[in-house]
Amino acid sequence: MNLMEFAIKIAKEAGELTIKEAEKGFKISKKGPRDLVTNADKASEKLIKSAIKKAFPDHGILAEESENDLKEIAKKDFIWIIDPIDGTTNYAHGIPNYSISIAVFATTYSESSKNFEYKGGELIAGVVHAPRLNETFYAAKDQGAFLNGKKIQVSTTKTLQDSVVATGFPYENKEEALPYFEKIVSRAQGIRRFGSAALDLCYLAAGRFDAFWELGLQPWDIAAGALIVQEAGGHLTDLNGAELDLFSKEILASNKHTHQEMIDTLNI
Ligand code: IPD
Ligand code: CA
Ligand code: CA
Repeated sequence: MNLMEFAIKIAKEAGELTIKEAEKGFKISKKGPRDLVTNADKASEKLIKSAIKKAFPDHGILAEESENDLKEIAKKDFIWIIDPIDGTTNYAHGIPNYSISIAVFATTYSESSKNFEYKGGELIAGVVHAPRLNETFYAAKDQGAFLNGKKIQVSTTKTLQDSVVATGFPYENKEEALPYFEKIVSRAQGIRRFGSAALDLCYLAAGRFDAFWELGLQPWDIAAGALIVQEAGGHLTDLNGAELDLFSKEILASNKHTHQEMIDTLNI
C-alpha cells in the first residue's frame, strides 16, 4: 500500500468512526464561545494519529486537536497535517457537509527553521473524505486529482459574474470578513458558505465552485484541499496574489481564470 492509499484508508476509517459516534450521541464542548469540539473530533484524530505512528514512526504529525511542537515537527522529513473533522459545527448539528482532511508534506529542514515553511518543501498527498456524502477527493503530487476514482478538473468559467464563489467565516472577529463578503456577493453569480473549508477547496477542484477565499484558516483546514486544487488545474495564493503559505491564515483559490478578478475585487 502506498502513502496515498494509506491516507485514503485511514480517512475512510475515521469517517466511519464519526458516523458511529453520531449514532451513539456525541458530547460537545467548546474551545471558544462559538468554536465547538466533540469527542468524535478527538477520537477521529486519535485513530488517524495512531495508524500513522504505527506505519510511519519517523514521520511528524501536525493535528488540530493536539499540542503541536512546530520546532520538533519541522525536523521530520515527512509531516502529516490532519483535521480530524473539518466542519465540526455542521457535524454537531447533523448537517452532512463535513470532512476528514489528511495531507502529507515533504519538508526540507534547516537549523534556522522556526516552523516548517511551505516554501521549504511540498505537499505530496492529500485526501478529503466526506463520509455522509460518500465523496472522497484525493491527489498525489503530479498525478492529478480524483473524486471517488474519477479524474476531476477545475471549471472553465472566465468571469466573476458567471462564478459561484465559496467562502467561510472565522469563529471570532467575523466582522473582518464582512467587507470582502460584500464586495464579492454583489458581483458573483452566487456565493456559498457550506462550512468545511477542506470540502470547499475540493468543490472548486471538481468544477462546482469557480473560486474560494477565506480568512483565519489553519494549515489543517487547507493542506489537503490545496494539493487537490493544484492537481485539478487550479491556482492558490493569498488575497493579494502572493504565493500561498499554509500558515498565513488567508487563502484565495480559483480555477485560474477568475483569479485576477477575485484579487482585484477583494482589494477594491
Ligand atoms: C472550520 C471549517 C469552516 C471554516 C472555519 C474552520 P473546523 O474548521 O473549515 O468551513 O469557515 O474557519 O475553522 O473548526 O470545523 O475544523
Ligand atoms: Ca478545520
Ligand atoms: Ca476540525
